[in-house]
Amino acid sequence: MKLDHGLLLYEGKAKRVFSTNNTEEVLVEFKDDATAFNAQKRAQIEGKGRLNCLITGKIFKILSKRGLPTHFLNTESDTWMLVQKVNIIPLEIVVRNIASGSLCRETPLRPGKELSAPLIDLYYKDDKLGDPLITDQRIEILGLASSEIIYEIKELALKTNSILREFFLKAGILLVDFKLEMGFNLKGKLLIADEFSPDNCRLWDLNVDDSTQKIMDKDRFRLDLGGVLDSYEEIYRRIKDIAF
Ligand code: TMP
Ligand code: ASP
Repeated sequence: MKLDHGLLLYEGKAKRVFSTNNTEEVLVEFKDDATAFNAQKRAQIEGKGRLNCLITGKIFKILSKRGLPTHFLNTESDTWMLVQKVNIIPLEIVVRNIASGSLCRETPLRPGKELSAPLIDLYYKDDKLGDPLITDQRIEILGLASSEIIYEIKELALKTNSILREFFLKAGILLVDFKLEMGFNLKGKLLIADEFSPDNCRLWDLNVDDSTQKIMDKDRFRLDLGGVLDSYEEIYRRIKDIAF
């Protein structure tokens, strides 16, 4: 379904952002494009945009209900979402509960190791630099955020984690890690923005023992495991009716 929208403001790897006739709101369209490894690997997965839009809508509604500030306003159709316009802080805010992915490539931690407390890793969003891990001091030196804002970002990320860990458990799913983006709306309020979908988190099926079979997220695409759309559909099926 095509929505009545204004100009294309931005096109990313998985979404397009359009203006609306309200300067404080934009429309986001979820695409079927899948990329990994800084877009070196690409594919079209028909139906992925729909599932990511529906899953993101469900998750943002839960976070809002629990009092967290998000940019989400409404799911307009299966692939379109209305959100508050934000200036995105160029940081990828990753929260990890279980060791996986780059944490295991860059440290001696073994995949699947439960961390004693959630770990927050911040990355500088810059494709040319390959999104490097960044320190708080470097963030301040680059003028990306003050120490107070960095603190606020981390607090919001940890609250998101505790809410969503419990939520996914109810669906028989382990929230291994996830990536958030945040930004300021036109009134200067810090909001959780972008999306929360299987494209930017790791979700393991608690009903399955096998270490590859249990993967329900974009690692199925990254690692060529197949069944990407089926597992996204299964995530949505399990979470859509959970009242939380
Ligand atoms: P990592 O283990 O590769 O650093 O990924 C940590 C989490 O962040 C994982 O849930 C996937 C997500 N992620 C993104 O959303 N975008 C990215 O570009 C990368 C590298 C990871
Ligand atoms: N989203 C990133 C890319 O497309 C990386 C990833 O998710 O693995 O390059």
